[in-house]
Amino acid sequence: MDIIIRENYEQMSKYAAQIIANVVRTKPNCVLGLATGSTPIGTYRELVRMHREEGLDFSEVTTFNLDEYLGVGIDLDKPYHLDQSYARFMYEELFKHINIKKENIHIPDGLTTNPNEHCKWYEEQIKKAGGIDLQLLGIGRDGHWGFNEPGSSLGSRTRVVALTEQTLNDNYEAFYKKANISRSEMPHFAITMGIGTILEARNILMIANGAGKADVVAKCLEGPVTSQITSSAIQLHSGGITVVLDKEAASKLKNIDYYRHVETLKHQYGL
Ligand code: PGA
Repeated sequence: MDIIIRENYEQMSKYAAQIIANVVRTKPNCVLGLATGSTPIGTYRELVRMHREEGLDFSEVTTFNLDEYLGVGIDLDKPYHLDQSYARFMYEELFKHINIKKENIHIPDGLTTNPNEHCKWYEEQIKKAGGIDLQLLGIGRDGHWGFNEPGSSLGSRTRVVALTEQTLNDNYEAFYKKANISRSEMPHFAITMGIGTILEARNILMIANGAGKADVVAKCLEGPVTSQITSSAIQLHSGGITVVLDKEAASKLKNIDYYRHVETLKHQYGL
């Protein structure tokens, strides 16, 4: 596991975007797993910049998003019909700015009339695409990946879940309040890839910033593997793992000096 600590949000975002861009350049038809939330916004902006200024080409890239609220959605043919769905978020923050093909974008359908069947279908689509090459992940303050709230099985698959009070509060503050949507009107359920689904990605890229994430980042990376901090399953992943943190999010890591030392050594030896 590579733990990379950067000075601030901007540096964290640039580093993460570089990792994604390297995958896209090396394998133009790669499959990316994408995440929503405040954390990846800077990473997406940097990818958009690379697309515009450096010609980073997404024309053969396929994407699968982690999750979506149940009961909301967006018709990408009518992109100005705005709502607070993650589909809208992805469209606004990334997809409308790059040359990705609409048919290569996958986001759980929050408007599905048969959520359980849809979840199975979503898993099948990931398999059909050949699996995920690189999964981008944030981390919730309750330690979740996607909407895998505390208590989710570490082997869980894509399914419908109920959101915790903390997640509802965090997402209300980050998104719904600005859109003048009351907390009681927010969706209380979501579709999420499971932890088992996420662990099948060949590579994982987790990002976190800010002092508010310091405790949970330390629990995730250095605490016991537990379904109470579902992202702690990162410790079980067998592929490539990169965790990129700003220095505030990294501030409670016990082995921080060692992680910095490893990074310096790898740089020195070109590893
Ligand atoms: P945030 O959410 O990026 O808005 O902090 C992260 C997450 O819930 O995964």
